[in-house]
Amino acid sequence: MTATEKALSAIDANLTGSLDRLFELIRIPSVSTDPAYSGDCRKAADWVVGQLRELGFEASARETGGQPMVVGHYGVSGGGAKAGNGVPHVLFYGHYDVQPADPIELWDAPPFEPRLVDTPTGKHIVARGACDDKGQFMTFIEACRGWKDATGELPITVTVLIEGEEESGSKSLGPFLDAHKDELKADFALVCDTGMWDAKTPAINTLLRGLMLEEIIITAASRDLHSGMYGGPARNPIRVLAKIIADLHDQDGVIQVPGFYDGVADLTPEQKQQWDDLGFNADGFLGDVGLSVPAGEKGRSVLEQIWSRPTCDVNGIIGGYTGEGTKTVIPSQASAKISFRLVGDQDPLKIRDAFRAFVKERLPTDCEVEFIGHGASPALYVDLSLPELGKAAAALEAEFERPAAMIGCGGSIPIAGDFKRTLGMDSILIGFGLDDDKVHSPNEKYNLSSFQHGTRAWARVIGALAGK
Ligand code: BES
Ligand code: MN
Ligand code: MN
Repeated sequence: MTATEKALSAIDANLTGSLDRLFELIRIPSVSTDPAYSGDCRKAADWVVGQLRELGFEASARETGGQPMVVGHYGVSGGGAKAGNGVPHVLFYGHYDVQPADPIELWDAPPFEPRLVDTPTGKHIVARGACDDKGQFMTFIEACRGWKDATGELPITVTVLIEGEEESGSKSLGPFLDAHKDELKADFALVCDTGMWDAKTPAINTLLRGLMLEEIIITAASRDLHSGMYGGPARNPIRVLAKIIADLHDQDGVIQVPGFYDGVADLTPEQKQQWDDLGFNADGFLGDVGLSVPAGEKGRSVLEQIWSRPTCDVNGIIGGYTGEGTKTVIPSQASAKISFRLVGDQDPLKIRDAFRAFVKERLPTDCEVEFIGHGASPALYVDLSLPELGKAAAALEAEFERPAAMIGCGGSIPIAGDFKRTLGMDSILIGFGLDDDKVHSPNEKYNLSSFQHGTRAWARVIGALAGK
Protein backbone atom coordinates (compact mmCIF):
# COMPACT_ATOMS: atom_id res chain seq x y z
CA MET A 1 0.00 0.00 0.00
CA THR A 2 1.38 3.43 -0.87
CA ALA A 3 1.31 6.23 1.68
CA THR A 4 -1.43 7.93 -0.35
CA GLU A 5 -3.52 4.74 -0.26
CA LYS A 6 -3.09 4.60 3.49
CA ALA A 7 -4.28 8.18 3.79
CA LEU A 8 -7.32 7.37 1.64
CA SER A 9 -8.23 4.44 3.89
CA ALA A 10 -7.90 6.61 6.97
CA ILE A 11 -10.24 9.19 5.36
CA ASP A 12 -12.84 6.54 4.54
CA ALA A 13 -12.67 5.12 8.05
CA ASN A 14 -13.14 8.61 9.53
CA LEU A 15 -15.99 9.98 7.43
CA THR A 16 -18.38 10.24 10.40
CA GLY A 17 -15.82 12.18 12.42
CA SER A 18 -15.09 14.46 9.46
CA LEU A 19 -18.77 15.24 9.07
CA ASP A 20 -19.17 15.89 12.80
CA ARG A 21 -16.35 18.41 12.64
CA LEU A 22 -17.81 20.14 9.58
CA PHE A 23 -21.21 20.34 11.30
CA GLU A 24 -19.59 21.88 14.38
CA LEU A 25 -18.07 24.61 12.24
CA ILE A 26 -21.29 25.22 10.32
CA ARG A 27 -23.19 25.76 13.60
CA ILE A 28 -21.13 28.90 14.15
CA PRO A 29 -22.97 31.61 12.16
CA SER A 30 -19.86 33.44 10.93
CA VAL A 31 -21.52 36.05 8.70
CA SER A 32 -18.82 38.59 7.92
CA THR A 33 -20.86 41.43 6.44
CA ASP A 34 -23.04 41.93 9.52
CA PRO A 35 -21.31 43.34 12.64
CA ALA A 36 -23.87 41.50 14.79
CA TYR A 37 -21.98 38.28 14.00
CA SER A 38 -18.43 39.44 14.64
CA GLY A 39 -18.29 37.37 17.85
CA ASP A 40 -19.20 34.32 15.79
CA CYS A 41 -16.54 35.12 13.22
CA ARG A 42 -14.01 35.10 16.05
CA LYS A 43 -15.42 31.80 17.30
CA ALA A 44 -15.12 30.26 13.85
CA ALA A 45 -11.53 31.53 13.52
CA ASP A 46 -10.62 30.06 16.92
CA TRP A 47 -12.30 26.80 15.99
CA VAL A 48 -10.19 26.51 12.83
CA VAL A 49 -7.07 27.32 14.84
CA GLY A 50 -7.97 24.45 17.19
CA GLN A 51 -8.29 22.04 14.27
CA LEU A 52 -4.96 23.05 12.81
CA ARG A 53 -3.20 22.71 16.16
CA GLU A 54 -4.63 19.21 16.56
CA LEU A 55 -2.97 18.35 13.26
CA GLY A 56 0.38 19.66 14.40
CA PHE A 57 0.23 23.10 12.80
CA GLU A 58 1.61 26.14 14.54
CA ALA A 59 -1.56 28.18 14.21
CA SER A 60 -3.13 31.37 15.47
CA ALA A 61 -5.94 33.81 14.75
CA ARG A 62 -4.43 37.16 13.82
CA GLU A 63 -6.05 40.49 14.41
CA THR A 64 -6.85 42.67 11.43
CA GLY A 65 -8.95 45.79 11.14
CA GLY A 66 -11.82 43.43 10.35
CA GLN A 67 -12.40 39.73 11.05
CA PRO A 68 -9.49 37.63 12.35
CA MET A 69 -7.22 35.85 9.90
CA VAL A 70 -6.27 32.25 10.58
CA VAL A 71 -2.68 31.35 9.74
CA GLY A 72 -1.14 27.95 10.34
CA HIS A 73 2.24 26.50 9.43
CA TYR A 74 3.23 22.89 9.10
CA GLY A 75 6.83 21.95 8.53
CA VAL A 76 7.93 25.54 8.09
CA SER A 77 9.86 25.63 11.34
CA GLY A 78 10.22 22.60 13.55
CA GLY A 79 8.78 19.18 12.67
CA GLY A 80 7.33 17.91 9.41
CA ALA A 81 8.73 17.95 5.90
CA LYS A 82 11.04 20.80 4.95
CA ALA A 83 10.46 22.74 1.78
CA GLY A 84 13.18 22.21 -0.80
CA ASN A 85 14.67 18.87 -1.90
CA GLY A 86 11.67 18.36 -4.12
CA VAL A 87 9.21 18.80 -1.26
CA PRO A 88 6.97 21.70 -2.18
CA HIS A 89 5.66 24.34 0.19
CA VAL A 90 2.02 25.19 -0.57
CA LEU A 91 -0.19 27.97 0.70
CA PHE A 92 -3.73 26.68 1.12
CA TYR A 93 -6.46 29.34 1.05
CA GLY A 94 -10.12 29.20 2.06
CA HIS A 95 -12.64 31.35 3.96
CA TYR A 96 -14.56 30.64 7.16
CA ASP A 97 -17.03 33.48 6.68
CA VAL A 98 -20.40 32.91 5.03
CA GLN A 99 -23.09 34.97 3.36
CA PRO A 100 -26.09 36.13 5.42
CA ALA A 101 -28.82 33.49 5.56
CA ASP A 102 -31.70 35.71 4.55
CA PRO A 103 -34.35 35.51 3.27
CA ILE A 104 -34.64 33.20 6.25
CA GLU A 105 -38.28 32.28 5.60
CA LEU A 106 -37.30 30.48 2.39
CA TRP A 107 -35.19 27.90 4.23
CA ASP A 108 -36.78 24.48 4.84
CA ALA A 109 -34.97 24.30 8.21
CA PRO A 110 -32.81 26.67 10.29
CA PRO A 111 -29.77 27.66 8.17
CA PHE A 112 -27.12 27.10 10.84
CA GLU A 113 -28.39 23.68 11.92
CA PRO A 114 -26.74 21.42 9.36
CA ARG A 115 -28.67 18.34 8.24
CA LEU A 116 -27.93 15.35 6.07
CA VAL A 117 -30.86 15.05 3.65
CA ASP A 118 -31.63 12.05 1.43
CA THR A 119 -32.39 13.09 -2.15
CA PRO A 120 -32.69 11.33 -5.51
CA THR A 121 -29.12 12.51 -6.27
CA GLY A 122 -27.69 11.17 -3.03
CA LYS A 123 -27.18 12.62 0.43
CA HIS A 124 -26.85 16.40 0.74
CA ILE A 125 -25.41 18.45 3.59
CA VAL A 126 -27.85 21.38 3.87
CA ALA A 127 -26.90 24.60 5.70
CA ARG A 128 -25.44 28.05 5.12
CA GLY A 129 -21.74 27.45 4.43
CA ALA A 130 -22.25 23.73 3.69
CA CYS A 131 -20.49 24.40 0.40
CA ASP A 132 -19.22 28.00 0.39
CA ASP A 133 -16.70 27.71 1.88
CA LYS A 134 -16.80 25.61 5.03
CA GLY A 135 -17.56 22.28 3.34
CA GLN A 136 -15.02 23.10 0.67
CA PHE A 137 -12.03 24.13 2.78
CA MET A 138 -12.70 21.37 5.31
CA THR A 139 -12.03 18.85 2.51
CA PHE A 140 -8.40 19.99 2.57
CA ILE A 141 -8.15 20.04 6.37
CA GLU A 142 -9.67 16.57 6.59
CA ALA A 143 -7.29 15.34 3.89
CA CYS A 144 -4.42 16.58 6.07
CA ARG A 145 -5.97 14.70 8.97
CA GLY A 146 -6.11 11.54 6.84
CA TRP A 147 -2.40 11.85 6.08
CA LYS A 148 -1.57 12.48 9.74
CA ASP A 149 -3.67 9.55 10.94
CA ALA A 150 -2.23 7.17 8.37
CA THR A 151 1.44 8.15 8.35
CA GLY A 152 1.95 10.40 11.36
CA GLU A 153 2.86 13.43 9.24
CA LEU A 154 2.14 15.55 6.18
CA PRO A 155 4.48 14.81 3.29
CA ILE A 156 4.64 18.44 2.13
CA THR A 157 5.14 21.79 3.80
CA VAL A 158 1.86 23.61 4.25
CA THR A 159 0.87 27.11 5.22
CA VAL A 160 -2.86 27.50 5.72
CA LEU A 161 -4.56 30.86 5.37
CA ILE A 162 -8.27 30.92 6.17
CA GLU A 163 -9.74 34.39 6.07
CA GLY A 164 -13.01 35.72 7.43
CA GLU A 165 -13.90 38.49 4.99
CA GLU A 166 -14.10 36.86 1.58
CA GLU A 167 -17.84 37.37 1.38
CA SER A 168 -17.44 41.04 2.14
CA GLY A 169 -14.63 41.74 -0.30
CA SER A 170 -11.47 40.62 1.58
CA LYS A 171 -10.73 44.17 2.72
CA SER A 172 -8.14 43.21 5.36
CA LEU A 173 -6.40 40.54 3.33
CA GLY A 174 -4.55 42.78 0.85
CA PRO A 175 -2.79 44.75 3.61
CA PHE A 176 -2.26 41.50 5.57
CA LEU A 177 -0.46 39.90 2.61
CA ASP A 178 1.65 43.02 2.22
CA ALA A 179 2.64 42.99 5.87
CA HIS A 180 3.39 39.24 6.00
CA LYS A 181 4.99 38.57 2.64
CA ASP A 182 7.85 36.51 4.00
CA GLU A 183 5.65 34.50 6.26
CA LEU A 184 3.02 33.67 3.62
CA LYS A 185 5.16 33.17 0.55
CA ALA A 186 5.15 29.57 -0.66
CA ASP A 187 5.91 27.84 -3.97
CA PHE A 188 2.30 28.16 -5.12
CA ALA A 189 -1.22 28.46 -3.71
CA LEU A 190 -3.98 25.89 -3.55
CA VAL A 191 -7.48 27.36 -3.38
CA CYS A 192 -10.64 25.38 -2.60
CA ASP A 193 -13.55 27.71 -3.35
CA THR A 194 -14.73 26.82 -6.87
CA GLY A 195 -16.75 24.12 -8.59
CA MET A 196 -16.60 20.86 -10.51
CA TRP A 197 -17.69 20.61 -14.13
CA ASP A 198 -20.59 18.35 -13.11
CA ALA A 199 -21.30 15.90 -10.29
CA LYS A 200 -19.04 13.26 -11.87
CA THR A 201 -16.37 15.36 -13.54
CA PRO A 202 -13.69 17.16 -11.53
CA ALA A 203 -12.32 20.48 -12.71
CA ILE A 204 -9.48 22.89 -12.36
CA ASN A 205 -10.47 26.52 -12.71
CA THR A 206 -8.22 28.53 -14.93
CA LEU A 207 -10.14 31.81 -14.99
CA LEU A 208 -11.94 33.86 -12.37
CA ARG A 209 -13.71 37.09 -13.08
CA GLY A 210 -12.71 40.23 -11.23
CA LEU A 211 -15.23 42.33 -9.36
CA MET A 212 -15.84 46.04 -8.82
CA LEU A 213 -18.62 47.03 -6.43
CA GLU A 214 -20.21 50.45 -6.22
CA GLU A 215 -23.04 51.86 -4.19
CA ILE A 216 -24.62 55.06 -5.50
CA ILE A 217 -26.92 57.32 -3.55
CA ILE A 218 -28.84 60.03 -5.39
CA THR A 219 -30.40 62.86 -3.41
CA ALA A 220 -32.87 65.40 -4.85
CA ALA A 221 -35.13 67.41 -2.47
CA SER A 222 -34.00 68.03 1.10
CA ARG A 223 -36.84 65.87 2.48
CA ASP A 224 -39.52 63.40 1.35
CA LEU A 225 -42.40 65.23 -0.30
CA HIS A 226 -46.15 64.79 -0.73
CA SER A 227 -46.47 63.56 -4.32
CA GLY A 228 -49.67 65.55 -4.79
CA MET A 229 -48.41 68.82 -3.42
CA TYR A 230 -45.03 68.58 -5.19
CA GLY A 231 -45.60 65.98 -7.94
CA GLY A 232 -44.69 67.50 -11.32
CA PRO A 233 -42.09 70.09 -10.44
CA ALA A 234 -40.26 67.97 -7.89
CA ARG A 235 -37.35 65.90 -9.18
CA ASN A 236 -37.82 62.21 -8.32
CA PRO A 237 -34.46 60.54 -7.55
CA ILE A 238 -35.90 57.08 -8.22
CA ARG A 239 -36.66 58.12 -11.80
CA VAL A 240 -33.22 59.69 -12.14
CA LEU A 241 -31.59 56.51 -10.87
CA ALA A 242 -33.75 54.28 -13.07
CA LYS A 243 -32.82 56.30 -16.15
CA ILE A 244 -29.11 56.10 -15.38
CA ILE A 245 -29.35 52.35 -14.78
CA ALA A 246 -31.25 51.93 -18.05
CA ASP A 247 -28.49 53.81 -19.88
CA LEU A 248 -25.81 51.36 -18.70
CA HIS A 249 -26.62 48.82 -21.45
CA ASP A 250 -27.71 49.19 -25.06
CA GLN A 251 -30.26 47.01 -26.88
CA ASP A 252 -27.66 44.28 -27.43
CA GLY A 253 -26.55 44.12 -23.82
CA VAL A 254 -23.33 46.01 -24.52
CA ILE A 255 -22.14 48.13 -21.58
CA GLN A 256 -22.03 51.82 -22.40
CA VAL A 257 -19.48 53.14 -19.88
CA PRO A 258 -16.70 54.67 -22.01
CA GLY A 259 -13.52 52.57 -22.08
CA PHE A 260 -15.26 49.70 -20.31
CA TYR A 261 -14.07 47.08 -22.80
CA ASP A 262 -10.40 48.15 -22.72
CA GLY A 263 -8.40 45.02 -21.92
CA VAL A 264 -11.16 42.59 -22.92
CA ALA A 265 -9.81 40.19 -25.55
CA ASP A 266 -11.87 38.01 -27.84
CA LEU A 267 -11.62 34.28 -27.28
CA THR A 268 -8.83 32.58 -29.17
CA PRO A 269 -10.07 29.89 -31.59
CA GLU A 270 -8.31 27.22 -29.45
CA GLN A 271 -10.03 28.40 -26.29
CA LYS A 272 -13.37 28.53 -28.05
CA GLN A 273 -12.82 25.00 -29.37
CA GLN A 274 -11.85 23.68 -25.92
CA TRP A 275 -14.99 25.18 -24.40
CA ASP A 276 -17.20 23.89 -27.23
CA ASP A 277 -15.75 20.42 -26.61
CA LEU A 278 -17.01 20.53 -23.03
CA GLY A 279 -20.54 20.16 -24.40
CA PHE A 280 -22.14 22.66 -22.05
CA ASN A 281 -25.92 22.31 -21.80
CA ALA A 282 -26.98 25.96 -21.88
CA ASP A 283 -30.71 25.19 -22.05
CA GLY A 284 -30.46 22.96 -18.99
CA PHE A 285 -28.36 25.50 -17.11
CA LEU A 286 -30.95 28.23 -17.64
CA GLY A 287 -33.91 25.86 -17.42
CA ASP A 288 -32.86 24.70 -13.93
CA VAL A 289 -33.45 28.23 -12.63
CA GLY A 290 -36.63 28.92 -14.60
CA LEU A 291 -35.06 30.87 -17.47
CA SER A 292 -34.95 30.14 -21.18
CA VAL A 293 -33.23 32.91 -23.15
CA PRO A 294 -29.69 34.19 -22.43
CA ALA A 295 -29.97 37.90 -21.62
CA GLY A 296 -26.28 38.86 -21.87
CA GLU A 297 -24.37 40.39 -24.76
CA LYS A 298 -26.01 39.42 -28.02
CA GLY A 299 -24.22 36.86 -30.19
CA ARG A 300 -22.20 35.27 -27.38
CA SER A 301 -22.76 31.77 -26.03
CA VAL A 302 -23.92 31.32 -22.44
CA LEU A 303 -20.57 29.86 -21.42
CA GLU A 304 -18.78 32.77 -23.05
CA GLN A 305 -21.09 35.23 -21.29
CA ILE A 306 -20.21 33.69 -17.91
CA TRP A 307 -16.52 32.88 -18.32
CA SER A 308 -15.06 35.42 -20.69
CA ARG A 309 -17.29 38.48 -20.84
CA PRO A 310 -17.61 41.31 -18.33
CA THR A 311 -20.96 42.32 -16.90
CA CYS A 312 -22.68 45.14 -15.10
CA ASP A 313 -25.51 44.20 -12.76
CA VAL A 314 -27.76 45.96 -10.33
CA ASN A 315 -27.81 43.85 -7.15
CA GLY A 316 -30.20 45.99 -5.21
CA ILE A 317 -32.21 49.15 -5.53
CA ILE A 318 -33.71 51.10 -2.70
CA GLY A 319 -35.93 54.16 -2.54
CA GLY A 320 -39.28 55.49 -1.49
CA TYR A 321 -42.05 53.59 0.20
CA THR A 322 -41.83 49.79 0.05
CA GLY A 323 -44.16 48.78 2.89
CA GLU A 324 -47.74 47.47 2.81
CA GLY A 325 -50.31 49.36 0.79
CA THR A 326 -49.37 52.67 -0.78
CA LYS A 327 -47.90 55.98 0.20
CA THR A 328 -47.99 58.97 -2.08
CA VAL A 329 -44.46 60.19 -1.66
CA ILE A 330 -41.62 61.60 -3.72
CA PRO A 331 -38.59 60.44 -1.80
CA SER A 332 -35.57 62.58 -1.18
CA GLN A 333 -33.15 59.73 -1.90
CA ALA A 334 -32.75 56.64 -4.02
CA SER A 335 -29.81 54.28 -4.09
CA ALA A 336 -28.53 51.22 -5.85
CA LYS A 337 -25.85 48.61 -5.38
CA ILE A 338 -24.12 47.93 -8.66
CA SER A 339 -21.43 45.39 -9.49
CA PHE A 340 -19.19 44.81 -12.46
CA ARG A 341 -17.65 41.41 -13.23
CA LEU A 342 -14.36 41.92 -15.00
CA VAL A 343 -12.26 39.80 -17.35
CA GLY A 344 -8.89 39.88 -19.06
CA ASP A 345 -6.87 42.99 -18.28
CA GLN A 346 -9.74 45.31 -17.41
CA ASP A 347 -8.54 47.78 -14.79
CA PRO A 348 -11.04 47.93 -11.91
CA LEU A 349 -10.04 51.41 -10.72
CA LYS A 350 -10.19 52.92 -14.20
CA ILE A 351 -13.63 51.41 -14.64
CA ARG A 352 -14.72 52.79 -11.29
CA ASP A 353 -13.69 56.30 -12.37
CA ALA A 354 -15.35 55.91 -15.77
CA PHE A 355 -18.56 54.68 -14.13
CA ARG A 356 -18.62 57.60 -11.70
CA ALA A 357 -18.13 60.06 -14.57
CA PHE A 358 -20.90 58.29 -16.53
CA VAL A 359 -23.31 58.80 -13.62
CA LYS A 360 -22.32 62.42 -12.97
CA GLU A 361 -22.79 63.33 -16.63
CA ARG A 362 -26.37 62.16 -16.44
CA LEU A 363 -27.23 63.86 -13.19
CA PRO A 364 -29.85 66.59 -13.68
CA THR A 365 -29.94 69.91 -11.82
CA ASP A 366 -30.88 69.74 -8.14
CA CYS A 367 -29.51 66.21 -7.75
CA GLU A 368 -26.44 65.14 -5.85
CA VAL A 369 -24.71 61.80 -5.98
CA GLU A 370 -22.58 60.02 -3.44
CA PHE A 371 -20.48 56.98 -4.34
CA ILE A 372 -19.36 54.31 -1.91
CA GLY A 373 -16.75 51.92 -3.27
CA HIS A 374 -16.90 48.38 -1.90
CA GLY A 375 -13.81 46.83 -3.37
CA ALA A 376 -12.25 46.33 -6.74
CA SER A 377 -10.29 43.29 -7.89
CA PRO A 378 -9.09 42.36 -11.37
CA ALA A 379 -9.70 39.05 -13.14
CA LEU A 380 -7.36 36.13 -12.61
CA TYR A 381 -5.98 33.73 -15.15
CA VAL A 382 -3.94 30.74 -14.16
CA ASP A 383 -0.59 29.98 -15.77
CA LEU A 384 -1.32 26.76 -17.66
CA SER A 385 2.35 25.83 -17.88
CA LEU A 386 2.67 25.41 -14.11
CA PRO A 387 4.03 21.84 -13.73
CA GLU A 388 2.06 21.20 -10.52
CA LEU A 389 -1.15 21.74 -12.49
CA GLY A 390 -0.53 18.47 -14.34
CA LYS A 391 0.11 16.60 -11.08
CA ALA A 392 -3.09 17.97 -9.57
CA ALA A 393 -5.06 17.08 -12.69
CA ALA A 394 -3.75 13.51 -12.60
CA ALA A 395 -4.68 13.19 -8.91
CA LEU A 396 -8.22 14.40 -9.66
CA GLU A 397 -8.51 11.95 -12.52
CA ALA A 398 -7.40 9.08 -10.28
CA GLU A 399 -10.10 9.94 -7.74
CA PHE A 400 -13.01 10.60 -10.12
CA GLU A 401 -11.97 8.17 -12.86
CA ARG A 402 -12.46 10.95 -15.40
CA PRO A 403 -10.06 13.57 -16.71
CA ALA A 404 -10.32 16.94 -14.99
CA ALA A 405 -11.98 19.60 -17.13
CA MET A 406 -10.14 22.89 -17.50
CA ILE A 407 -12.88 25.43 -16.93
CA GLY A 408 -13.58 29.08 -16.31
CA CYS A 409 -15.73 30.50 -13.59
CA GLY A 410 -18.06 33.45 -13.49
CA GLY A 411 -17.51 34.10 -9.79
CA SER A 412 -14.73 35.97 -8.09
CA ILE A 413 -12.29 35.34 -5.27
CA PRO A 414 -11.05 38.87 -4.73
CA ILE A 415 -7.71 37.95 -3.19
CA ALA A 416 -6.55 35.31 -5.65
CA GLY A 417 -4.98 37.93 -7.92
CA ASP A 418 -2.98 39.32 -5.00
CA PHE A 419 -1.26 35.99 -4.42
CA LYS A 420 0.36 36.60 -7.79
CA ARG A 421 0.82 40.36 -7.52
CA THR A 422 1.99 40.56 -3.90
CA LEU A 423 3.60 37.18 -3.32
CA GLY A 424 4.54 36.19 -6.88
CA MET A 425 2.69 32.89 -6.50
CA ASP A 426 0.51 31.08 -9.01
CA SER A 427 -2.72 29.54 -7.79
CA ILE A 428 -4.29 26.18 -8.50
CA LEU A 429 -8.05 26.44 -8.07
CA ILE A 430 -9.75 23.16 -7.27
CA GLY A 431 -13.19 22.85 -5.75
CA PHE A 432 -16.07 20.42 -5.56
CA GLY A 433 -19.10 22.72 -5.66
CA LEU A 434 -21.93 22.12 -8.13
CA ASP A 435 -24.15 24.56 -10.01
CA ASP A 436 -27.16 23.42 -7.99
CA ASP A 437 -25.50 23.94 -4.58
CA LYS A 438 -27.50 27.17 -4.11
CA VAL A 439 -24.49 29.04 -2.77
CA HIS A 440 -25.56 32.42 -1.32
CA SER A 441 -29.22 31.23 -1.57
CA PRO A 442 -31.66 29.60 0.83
CA ASN A 443 -31.14 25.85 1.34
CA GLU A 444 -27.48 25.91 0.35
CA LYS A 445 -26.14 22.36 0.13
CA TYR A 446 -23.01 20.35 -0.51
CA ASN A 447 -23.30 16.84 -1.84
CA LEU A 448 -21.93 14.30 0.60
CA SER A 449 -20.11 12.88 -2.43
CA SER A 450 -18.43 16.27 -3.00
CA PHE A 451 -17.23 16.27 0.59
CA GLN A 452 -16.08 12.66 0.50
CA HIS A 453 -14.43 12.64 -2.92
CA GLY A 454 -13.13 16.16 -2.35
CA THR A 455 -11.33 15.06 0.80
CA ARG A 456 -9.93 12.01 -0.95
CA ALA A 457 -8.94 14.07 -3.97
CA TRP A 458 -6.92 16.50 -1.83
CA ALA A 459 -5.21 13.56 -0.14
CA ARG A 460 -4.19 12.39 -3.62
CA VAL A 461 -3.06 15.88 -4.65
CA ILE A 462 -0.92 16.13 -1.50
CA GLY A 463 0.54 12.72 -2.24
CA ALA A 464 1.21 13.58 -5.88
CA LEU A 465 2.95 16.84 -4.93
CA ALA A 466 5.15 14.91 -2.49
CA GLY A 467 5.83 12.16 -5.03
CA LYS A 468 4.27 9.56 -2.71
N1 BES B 1 -16.82 30.81 -3.72
C1 BES B 1 -17.30 32.03 -4.29
C2 BES B 1 -16.75 32.28 -5.69
C3 BES B 1 -17.36 31.37 -6.69
C4 BES B 1 -18.66 31.53 -7.07
C5 BES B 1 -16.64 30.35 -7.26
C6 BES B 1 -19.24 30.69 -7.97
C7 BES B 1 -17.21 29.48 -8.14
C8 BES B 1 -18.53 29.66 -8.51
C9 BES B 1 -16.93 33.17 -3.38
O1 BES B 1 -17.15 32.87 -2.03
C10 BES B 1 -17.83 34.32 -3.68
O2 BES B 1 -19.01 34.20 -3.48
N2 BES B 1 -17.25 35.41 -4.11
C11 BES B 1 -18.00 36.61 -4.24
C12 BES B 1 -17.07 37.75 -3.93
C13 BES B 1 -17.76 38.96 -3.39
C14 BES B 1 -18.72 38.69 -2.28
C15 BES B 1 -16.73 39.99 -2.98
C16 BES B 1 -18.60 36.69 -5.63
O3 BES B 1 -18.07 36.10 -6.59
O4 BES B 1 -19.63 37.33 -5.74
MN1 MN C 1 -16.42 31.11 -1.48
MN1 MN D 1 -19.37 33.10 -1.63
